[in-house]
Amino acid sequence: TLLGIDLGTTGVKAALFAVEDGRVLADAFVDYPLYHPAPGWAEQQPEEWWQATIAAIKACLVKGARQQLQVCGVGLSGQMHGVVLLDEQQQVLRPCIIWADQRSDAQCRWMTERVGAKQLIEYTSNPALTGFSAPKLLWVREHEPELFARARTMLLPKDYIRYRLTGRIAMEISDAAGTCLLDVRRGVWSQEVLQALELDPALLPQVVPADTACGTISEEVAALTGLPSGIPVAGGGADNACGAVGNGVVSPGLALVSVGTSGIVLAHAETPQVDTSGPVPRVHTFNHAVPGAWYLMGVTQGAGLSLRWVRDNIGLPERALERWTGVDAYETLSQEAESVPPGCDGLLFLPYLQGERTPHLDAYARGGWIGLTASHDRRYLIRSVLEGVAFSLKDCFSIIQEQGLTLEQVRATGGGAKSPLWRQIIADVLGVELVTTNATEGPAFGAALLAGVAAGVYASVVEACERTVRVVEHTEPQRAAVYEQAYGIYRALYPALKPIIS
Ligand code: XUL
Repeated sequence: TLLGIDLGTTGVKAALFAVEDGRVLADAFVDYPLYHPAPGWAEQQPEEWWQATIAAIKACLVKGARQQLQVCGVGLSGQMHGVVLLDEQQQVLRPCIIWADQRSDAQCRWMTERVGAKQLIEYTSNPALTGFSAPKLLWVREHEPELFARARTMLLPKDYIRYRLTGRIAMEISDAAGTCLLDVRRGVWSQEVLQALELDPALLPQVVPADTACGTISEEVAALTGLPSGIPVAGGGADNACGAVGNGVVSPGLALVSVGTSGIVLAHAETPQVDTSGPVPRVHTFNHAVPGAWYLMGVTQGAGLSLRWVRDNIGLPERALERWTGVDAYETLSQEAESVPPGCDGLLFLPYLQGERTPHLDAYARGGWIGLTASHDRRYLIRSVLEGVAFSLKDCFSIIQEQGLTLEQVRATGGGAKSPLWRQIIADVLGVELVTTNATEGPAFGAALLAGVAAGVYASVVEACERTVRVVEHTEPQRAAVYEQAYGIYRALYPALKPIIS
C-alpha cells in the first residue's frame, strides 16, 4: 500500500492506494486557515499544516487498519511557490507567504532589472512573477531584515512537511522549478541569478528527484502517526506535476486541465521549451516529476477560489440548506447555474480576484461582473463565474496550443472538474473533448505513485501510470459556438479596463 499526501491551499489530503491498480483504500482530509493580513496578501502557518498532516495520516491509517494494510512508501505533493524560512535550529521564522500572495510586485521589477529580463528567462526559463518564490524571499529581505538575517534555509511547503516526517532538508525538483532561482534546463540552482540577487546559495537546500527516496519516516513520527518507521518518503512533486502523474499525463501528446483553488492547463514536454509568442513568456516552463521531462503550464489564479467566494458571499441560502439537509452547497449552486442559458444572456465575469497569472501576468488585475441587466438574477451571477473561469482557462489553453506541442488528449481533474456542469462548460469553451481518469484523488495519487517508484514497486513513473491510470469518462463539447462569441467579448474586457483598474 502507498500513502500519498497532498498539502493543498484549503487543507491536506492523505490517501492510501493499492499498488496493483491504484484504487483508493482509505482517505482523509483536514483543513487549515488561510490568512489575509492585508489586501493581496496570503499566508499560512507551517505548524498548522503539520498538525493537519498528522491528523490526516492518523485518520487514514485508522480506516486502513480494518483492512490490515501495510504502507511501504510515502509520497508528498503540495501547493507550489510558498516560502518557508527556517533559522539555525530549524525553527520556522514567520508564516509562509504562499503562492497566491501578490505583495512582491516591486521585488519582481527589481529582480528583473538586476538579472536582466532576457537573462532571467535564459537562466531560469521563466520571468519574475509575484506568484513565484524568489520575489517573496526578496520581500522578506527588504521588509523584515532582522528576521531575514536569522534565516538559514528556505523550503517549499511540502518539502517542509518532508523535513518534519524524516528530518531531511531538501527541495524536490518539480517544486524547485517554481522558485525562479533554478536553472530549469539543467536542474541545478542558477548561480548567475543567486549572484545577481546577492542571495546566499547556502539558503537553498539540495535539489532532489521526484521519484527517489529522500529520507525515511522517523521513529518519532512513527510513534505519532502509526506509520512504520524506516519506510521511504519520496521526493514527491509540486501539486500540478503530481496531478499530471496521477492522471497519467507523463508522455507527449497529453495535457491536463485542473480546477482547484487555482486553475491550470498543463502540457507534457520532452524539452524545456519556453513560450516565445509574446515579449514575456505567459506560460511557465517547469521540470516535471517525470525525470528528464518538463511541462508548460498556464495558471488562472482564482478558479475554485472564485466559486468559493460566491458560495461564501452570495450563496448564504445554500450554506444554510447545507447545514439543515447535508446537501453540499456547491451542488445546489451548480443546479441553479444549470437553469440559466449558456452565455448568461451577456453577463460576463472576470475571475481576477487575486490578480492574474496567464495571460496578463498582472498582480493588480481585479475581478468583476460586466453586462448586468435587471433581467439577470443570482443564478446568472453563479453561472457566469463558472463560465468566466472557463474563459480564463481558455486563455491558458490557447497559449499552450500556440507552442506547437501536439495535444492529443486533454484530461480534467481537481475539485471543480468533478462537477459535470463545470466540466461541460470547460469542454464547450475550450472546444475539445475532456476525459477524466480513475484518479479521483489527483495530486495525492500522483504522489503515491512517485512513492511507489521510490520504494521499488514500480520500475518508473511511466510504468506506474500504465499499471494504474485508466480513462473513465468523456465529455464532448456541445455548444462551442455560443461561447466563442462570449469569449471574444471577455478577451476585450481586460485591456479596456486596465487603464481604470490597475
Ligand atoms: C502554480 C500555482 C498554483 C499552486 C496551487 O504555479 O501557483 O497552481 O501550485 O496549489
